[in-house]
Amino acid sequence: MITFDDRTDTFHLTNGLVSYVLTLAKTKYLLHRYWGPAIAEYHEPDPIPTPYRSFNLNQIPGDWRFSLTELPQELPAAGYGDFRPPALAITQANGAQYVLPTFQSYRIMAGKPELPGLPATQASDDEAETLIITLADAVAGVTVQLYYTIFKDLGIICRHQTVQNTGTQAFTIDQCASASLDISPQALDMITLNGADLKEAQIARQPLHPGIQEINSIRGFSSPQHQPFFALAEPAATEISGLVYAMHLVYSGNFSGTVDVDQFGMIRAQLGIAPDHFSWILAPGETFVSPEAVLNCSAAGLNGLSQNFHQLYRQHLLPKAWQDRPRPIVLNTWEAMYMDVSLAKIKAQAVAAAQAGIEVFVLDDGWFGERNDATSSLGDWQANLDKLPGGIPAVAKIVHNAGLKFGLWFEPEMISEKSQLYRQHPDWTLHVPGYPIVEGRTQYVLDLSRKEIQDFIVQTLSKYLQTGDIDYIKWDANRQLASLYSPNLPPERQGELSHRYMLGLYHVLATLTQRFPRVLFEGCCSGGGRFDPGMLRYMPQTWASDNTDPNCRMTIQNGFSLLYPPLVITAHVSASPNEQTGRKTALATRFAVTQCANLGYELDLTQLSPPELTAITDQISYAKQWRRLVQLGTFYRLPTPDQNHLFWEMISADQQHVTVLVYQRLAPANPGFPRYHLAYLDPAGQYRRADRIYGGDELMQVGLTLPPVHEDFYTEILNFTRVH
Ligand code: GLA
Repeated sequence: MITFDDRTDTFHLTNGLVSYVLTLAKTKYLLHRYWGPAIAEYHEPDPIPTPYRSFNLNQIPGDWRFSLTELPQELPAAGYGDFRPPALAITQANGAQYVLPTFQSYRIMAGKPELPGLPATQASDDEAETLIITLADAVAGVTVQLYYTIFKDLGIICRHQTVQNTGTQAFTIDQCASASLDISPQALDMITLNGADLKEAQIARQPLHPGIQEINSIRGFSSPQHQPFFALAEPAATEISGLVYAMHLVYSGNFSGTVDVDQFGMIRAQLGIAPDHFSWILAPGETFVSPEAVLNCSAAGLNGLSQNFHQLYRQHLLPKAWQDRPRPIVLNTWEAMYMDVSLAKIKAQAVAAAQAGIEVFVLDDGWFGERNDATSSLGDWQANLDKLPGGIPAVAKIVHNAGLKFGLWFEPEMISEKSQLYRQHPDWTLHVPGYPIVEGRTQYVLDLSRKEIQDFIVQTLSKYLQTGDIDYIKWDANRQLASLYSPNLPPERQGELSHRYMLGLYHVLATLTQRFPRVLFEGCCSGGGRFDPGMLRYMPQTWASDNTDPNCRMTIQNGFSLLYPPLVITAHVSASPNEQTGRKTALATRFAVTQCANLGYELDLTQLSPPELTAITDQISYAKQWRRLVQLGTFYRLPTPDQNHLFWEMISADQQHVTVLVYQRLAPANPGFPRYHLAYLDPAGQYRRADRIYGGDELMQVGLTLPPVHEDFYTEILNFTRVH
């Protein structure tokens, strides 16, 4: 899949789906040449013009035509006169902010190497090939390795870089992007997922404009404000067609995604750790590893892009044991009990849950220490014996006796001032000396850059997990990072803290998930505040939002589906009126939306009427019948005639079953008769629904005409089975 043509000094990575081309100028400057739909062979027919421009800067003395100020580069660095955003910035021991790494060598390997200490996609030797290009700057003592992995069957290339100190003096890395490339001038829209707590993953789309456009997080976590992702789409690209490029970062901390449109309309796209609040001192012999960026290109519109991401994450990112495993249906206690938990309530809920067909009972916040509200006890991970006599073993027994698996909530990265742990270790928090600690939800953050704190978390969780009582962990993190200072680090290394926090967290997660592979971990961060591929490497599902209103959830799940398959997006049916919006919706609607993801329930089952309990029991048996299709099949967003509707289609892995969901936000007065066109079916196939037969071509070309319904927040689920 990877070739080097030594006549033209050109690398070509291609798998028949995408091509990525790099070329060397003057045998040493690595230039970006092409990324897009596959080309069979790259001949370098037209070399990049190097017109003479009076006021360009020239990096080769005397060569007035050669200018890295404007050439499309693969590793633009700061200092030598490329004034666009750099992918590498270094301060040398003498204070000079300058580095110019040039080509030394390359090697091609089967498969994909691991990224030490960081989450990354994985591939066996027959699934992928990796190109490693070494560049160096001998004066600065900097050696950079650029990694490019191309996957056999996906329109994906994964990139990261390592920076090694091969000199004799320490230098500082001020910026180290995971991927940077220069796209030739063209009109493109930038698509991002933005939001807030309770409003995660809102899709935004705007035309690029001259200058820098950026999405970022300096909140310590990837954040609900911006997903570490952007796409660049042809203006005409739709869900179904058109060329789309995207980058997504396999990282859970601070990031920056920038797109710069320069003086010639050239587009530089970059993604990596945010340079703000970041610096890293590299001593001789040491290596820094950037997180991995996923580069995704599809000529089949946004659904094509999503399919690449979904397949990559399902097959090459999630922990192996959970890649192809439909997820159990959960009852979570949060909205039913909040922190007012008791054995009696647990028993009543667990028995009702088992009768309804639920499979896992998850005891959320409120079970430990003096935890009656959010002001105390984080860090004191011992059961409150007044609320739960007999402790967690007693709870586990009740739950297991009811025939359910047992899950438990932890917020391991955090500490309350009102806790025994804080009294014992007041120095364990992130804390700037001389100032009060900045609070969030009245809690502080443990300094996960420190080994003893990582060990504390591993030991605390291991104690619970090795009893075998616990099948599921919900891992929460309910505030973002501030008061960034660690007594563990010398003054000049405080800029390393946010990244060291992440490395500490990844170490903890890798240790626990390797030790307890049977346990299902769910990530959560005040809802979907740390929903990113970095966390998915360890925790194969994420709570997408604390907003369980189906009208909002449709939008949130629709947004996340751009990147993530339904298998990893957890969604719960909750009570009506909804806690977050006060909106009343039908139980059928709440179910219809959540069953398109990884379904669970989060409401007081003992408060439901007998007909509601029967309805829930029926929903669960329906969901069990269809979850393989939803969770292991393919998921598509389909165009609708107006903004008032959303339309999703799911096809089983064996292509024999198709289910569609049509959602109407508000009932229109005097409606017309819009058609809903299915897609991705076999046009020659025949599909049955109830007693009707439809041709695949009919469903796609003629579409479905649905009768108008006078109901707000209305969902229709239609199931088709292929008969020929
Ligand atoms: C966060 C989570 C909720 C719940 C509470 C418990 O808000 O997103 O699901 O676990 O914490 O305090």
